[in-house]
Amino acid sequence: MDKLIVEGGHKLVGNICISGAKNACLPILAAALLTEEECVISNVPLLKDVSTMINILASLGRDVKKEGDKVIIARGRVTNVTASYEMVSTMRASVAVLGPLIGRYREAKVSFPGGCVIGPRPIDLHLKGLRALGVDIDIKEGYIIAKAKKLKGNRIYLGGHFGSSVLATDNTLMASVLAEGETIIEDAACEPEVTDLVEFLQSMGADISGKGTPTLRVRGVKKLKGAKHSVIPDRIETGTYMIGAVITGGKLFLEGTTVDHNLALMDKLHECGGEIKEHKSGIEISRKTNKIKATDVTTLTYPGFPTDLQAQMMSLVTIGDGISVITEKIYPERFIHISELNRMGANIILEGSTAIIKGVPSLSGAPVMASDLRASAALVLAGLVADGKTEIARVYHLDRGYERIEEKLTACGAKIYRVKE
Ligand code: EPU
Repeated sequence: MDKLIVEGGHKLVGNICISGAKNACLPILAAALLTEEECVISNVPLLKDVSTMINILASLGRDVKKEGDKVIIARGRVTNVTASYEMVSTMRASVAVLGPLIGRYREAKVSFPGGCVIGPRPIDLHLKGLRALGVDIDIKEGYIIAKAKKLKGNRIYLGGHFGSSVLATDNTLMASVLAEGETIIEDAACEPEVTDLVEFLQSMGADISGKGTPTLRVRGVKKLKGAKHSVIPDRIETGTYMIGAVITGGKLFLEGTTVDHNLALMDKLHECGGEIKEHKSGIEISRKTNKIKATDVTTLTYPGFPTDLQAQMMSLVTIGDGISVITEKIYPERFIHISELNRMGANIILEGSTAIIKGVPSLSGAPVMASDLRASAALVLAGLVADGKTEIARVYHLDRGYERIEEKLTACGAKIYRVKE
């Protein structure tokens, strides 16, 4: 397994080109199953999770090619409606093929996603949405077996214990676009990635209104056509590098992205001493204070502070001036990074789903273990400012969600390299 070595103490200064959003492009690729015509998706990042989704589409019988930042799903039908355990167990987002398969072919057999290090991730809301459209669901031998004679529109309340769900909204939406009559999804997720999916479905001919709001209204159509779509910039990659500029006291220009999807982060970075300038072509970010200021953060559904930036924000305030409090309201157990940050000299205690971070003057490089994608990014950020060397094991998590991270950081002055094992 590869390791990343980060030598701390170098400011990030320069330009970073932001890639397309992983969490937008995965369901968009799955949505191509809703038509037999060709779809071309561009601004697709080169990531492990994207290859997994391409392999799943291929295993279902579709001919898929990656050419640069484009993925071309050629004209054709699926020849198999089973997404196997081998595929789904490597990536939870594989469950996004459930909605389009049932929508277009009226049947699907998808492995039930298993456990996850960031905490329990049930799929009850996905199944609730599909059942409301008339789908019969059986769970057998670890598979979700879904069948429908016909799909009929319905009014569906999709809120759960932790608010709305991104992929449950996606699955219900994708199953409803070819259903008979009108579907109204209430408490739909409003994340920009859902909006991007809505725009792709609209370009395929779907009739959807309410984009970006908690009420999505779908009038079923008979057939969808092929379409071209360019994926939105990745707001989590953007946010990670924004934090990178502030934590190192450097200055970055993040190209091809927007603060519009990161207003909650921008607000918190201002509190911590960050200075952000919006430009047509991107975001300029630096720190105007000598020290990082402490802050309080609560993760919420969009447009609240994203859970996918919680760990990175925690790295930032470990060296903040004062006490910061971070509360996780989406995944109450998503805190595995705390013990690793404490190994680097941070002072963090956990009380339920609230972390109390007493700022320390500096971190010290140490061997640490990446546990999930965003926790890995948090350790890279901590490593950039720690004294000495940080050795991050299990970096395959990073490769799932950050395109060419070492290359992008090295170009801005970081000392970071990969050791192949
Ligand atoms: N939930 C339920 N029942 C469900 C589905 C979700 O109770 O049927 C709960 C979850 O347990 C969680 C909350 O609802 O407490 C929100 O989960 P959500 O369904 O929105 O998560 P997701 O759609 O499975 C996507 C991203 C995650 C991101 C979350 C929250 C993709 C592929 N994944 O997951 O991204 O953390 O939304 O914003 O879009 C990541 O990129 O590192 C990542 C984990």
